[in-house]
Amino acid sequence: MNQLSRHLLPLGASSDDEGRLKLHNVDFEEFVEVYGTPLFVYDTDDIEDKVRRLIAAANWRVAYASKAFLSVALLKILMQYDILLDVASGGELAVAKAAKFPGSRLIFHGNNKSSVELTDALTYGVGLIVVDSFDEISRLSEIAKVQGALPRLLVRVTPGVEAHTHEYIMTGQEDSKFGFSVASGAAKAAIEAVIDDANLEFAGIHAHIGSQIFLLESYRKEVEALALLLRTYRPEVINLGGGIGVAYLNDEESGDFERWARTLTKSIDELNLDYSYQVIVEPGRAIVASSALTFYTVGTLKEIEGIRTYLAVDGGMSDNPRPVIYDSGYEAFLPRDLGADRDRNFRIVGKHCESGDVIIKDAYLPGSTSVGDVIATPVTGAYGYSMASNYNRVPRPPVVFVNSNGHRLAIRGETYDDLLRLENFD
Ligand code: LLP
Repeated sequence: MNQLSRHLLPLGASSDDEGRLKLHNVDFEEFVEVYGTPLFVYDTDDIEDKVRRLIAAANWRVAYASKAFLSVALLKILMQYDILLDVASGGELAVAKAAKFPGSRLIFHGNNKSSVELTDALTYGVGLIVVDSFDEISRLSEIAKVQGALPRLLVRVTPGVEAHTHEYIMTGQEDSKFGFSVASGAAKAAIEAVIDDANLEFAGIHAHIGSQIFLLESYRKEVEALALLLRTYRPEVINLGGGIGVAYLNDEESGDFERWARTLTKSIDELNLDYSYQVIVEPGRAIVASSALTFYTVGTLKEIEGIRTYLAVDGGMSDNPRPVIYDSGYEAFLPRDLGADRDRNFRIVGKHCESGDVIIKDAYLPGSTSVGDVIATPVTGAYGYSMASNYNRVPRPPVVFVNSNGHRLAIRGETYDDLLRLENFD
């Protein structure tokens, strides 16, 4: 019997006597009727639970990596917690500003921040700026001098650790566009450049070894690689990045926050640093991925004799590009019969003019799945909406939040007018 494993669903998910999916006692059909499909639904109680558990897991500060999913409505929820926010572009900063997320709680990332972005960050009083190149250090120094600000900086270093994950989301290795290499001495030189610059304040170091990491050993190696820098420069802030892995498939298990915390804490303790410091971690995916699912409507079923059956939905690579980019796997299920045996193989594809527009190569759904049915893909809360596009001028879907108090629109769906608003009609 091939059923969807319940651990892939958010906290508020359940099924009624008929096996229909409910999210906080709202029947899935209600979401579809009110908001249409495709649709992202986030269980915000699930997000808050993750935030609370992460904060409690260790004596560290948690920064949410907003690239995973960002919206004003989400920030208004997160703001109530003792959480920092990682923004990695002027656009993410603009959303944080719009939500009135305090500047002092922002960490500003990016390997190629423009002068405008840096100026905006200083004007908004961003708490920590993570510098990533010598060019940026001098650019920022000039801007800080003009503004009369003294920005607090983290120097992003490349620990030289190869985390076992997809090549495109691996960042800690030597050959990377991110950071200053520890091994080559560039990290040391960058830290000293910051320390020696009267316009800048050295607050600490930052490292991030990649995303979707399950081998905690990689984090131990990360800390070890930083040991000499920590002993030499005694940074007040040690930001070890995010990356803890999340389960997408029935047979996967999400990384355990407490074990992650223990690994990092123990690895740092073992260095016997004789000064006080603040550890920061920056998870994105682990906070939002499994809180959301996407609903699609099945539009066509095309059976190719002896080959396979294509099941086409009303979204695709524009709302979830991850299968195309990273060959990422997802599960699918039929929310009208959550417990049903998923006994039939389909290739779930989108509506885009591209053969590669695949959501799930080998999906299993109940044999009764037919045109007009709503299907769902769980664990779409991270890097789905945030990486969505308008390919083929397909409007981006709405995002709905649900919790025990009910449901509401967090981001409305795009309209054709939205798609046309950038055009020049002259
Ligand atoms: N901190 C820094 C500096 C980062 O670059 C990232 C992710 C994070 C934190 C958060 O990593 P997380 O905890 O979410 O794994 N689009 C890819 C993932 C790219 C991650 C980029 N940086 C995907 O869909 O798998």
